Amino acid sequence: MSELTFTRTPATPLPDAEREAILRDPGFADSFTDHMVSIVWDRDTGWHDAEVLPYGPIELDPASSVLHYGQEIFEGLKAYRHPNGEIVAFRPEANARRLNESARRLALPEIPEELFVRAVEELVRADADWVPSGADQSLYIRPFMIAYENFLGVRSAERARFLVIAGPAGSYFPGGVKPVSIWLSGDLARAGRGGTGSAKCGGNYASSLLPTRIAKEHGCQQVLFTDSATDDTIDELGGMNIFLVRADGTLVTPRLNGNILDGVTRRSLIALAKDRGHAVEERDVTVSEWRDGVADGSITEAFACGTAAVITPIGRLVGEAGTIVDFGDRAPGELTMSLREELTGIQFGTVADRHGWVHRIVSAG
Ligand code: COI
Repeated sequence: MSELTFTRTPATPLPDAEREAILRDPGFADSFTDHMVSIVWDRDTGWHDAEVLPYGPIELDPASSVLHYGQEIFEGLKAYRHPNGEIVAFRPEANARRLNESARRLALPEIPEELFVRAVEELVRADADWVPSGADQSLYIRPFMIAYENFLGVRSAERARFLVIAGPAGSYFPGGVKPVSIWLSGDLARAGRGGTGSAKCGGNYASSLLPTRIAKEHGCQQVLFTDSATDDTIDELGGMNIFLVRADGTLVTPRLNGNILDGVTRRSLIALAKDRGHAVEERDVTVSEWRDGVADGSITEAFACGTAAVITPIGRLVGEAGTIVDFGDRAPGELTMSLREELTGIQFGTVADRHGWVHRIVSAG
């Protein structure tokens, strides 16, 4: 499959001054680079028609099955500009593996991991000028796959399209690394046993939008979902995983129970914390344990993590009945911030990459 040749149709790039204005204050992937990647799959031919082409709208027939049955999956990863000028991606092969896990659950075709990584490399090389160099800025890369066949019967598509787009990104939460408030979703669940909770598919995010809107109405930036069977066991936030930190330095995070995303940032933090000698417990953890632990001082920090959020300290958990947890001026916690510094240091090339996570795409100079 690695012999698949990419055809390249160069875009007319955005004028330098306009691109530089965007890079100075990129928001979170609110603008997109000059190019995109597209690869088509059908059951007879497999993956073919690999292209790097100008970024722009794609034509979809109104009967395209993705529009009706939501057969769609995606990934999120970032490219970083290092001080020596090289451009790297963080663990792209982990995203390739996870996309294929999502593909299996959503009955979409798997894509060879090396083809996924090449597609990311092709786009980053074509649009290297779009990788920002400001503090905490990166190029957010969004590979995704859609069902790409026109019919209205309910079945999995025999034709699919994989695309990669990218946009420069600063902090996911406006205001930078400040503690966020989290809203505990009540009756509105994100996932249930045997569902698609562990797949990165658009439907999971669609179901988080109403609860997130309610969260925002209550002054919170994210929503926390619990297991719909217990209403107490913590799953994850609308778009990121969650960790609690105990006073003895133990990290506690929900186990991969089939409902939650196997986050690349989650995995990386577990490895970094274990390297430092911290115990890490991946297990069921409840809102009651969190609330009682903060009250008796045994839980001292909480944070959200994901590619987009990196590590964002949690300051408060709020529910229908009022504040459940409030770290007050103890947030952000010390371990939260020092793990954040280590992880971003590896990503931005200022801390040694002892795990070999950094994948060089454009060389220095
Ligand atoms: C990510 O962290 O990359 C996510 O997918 C979260 C959100 C931006 C969808």
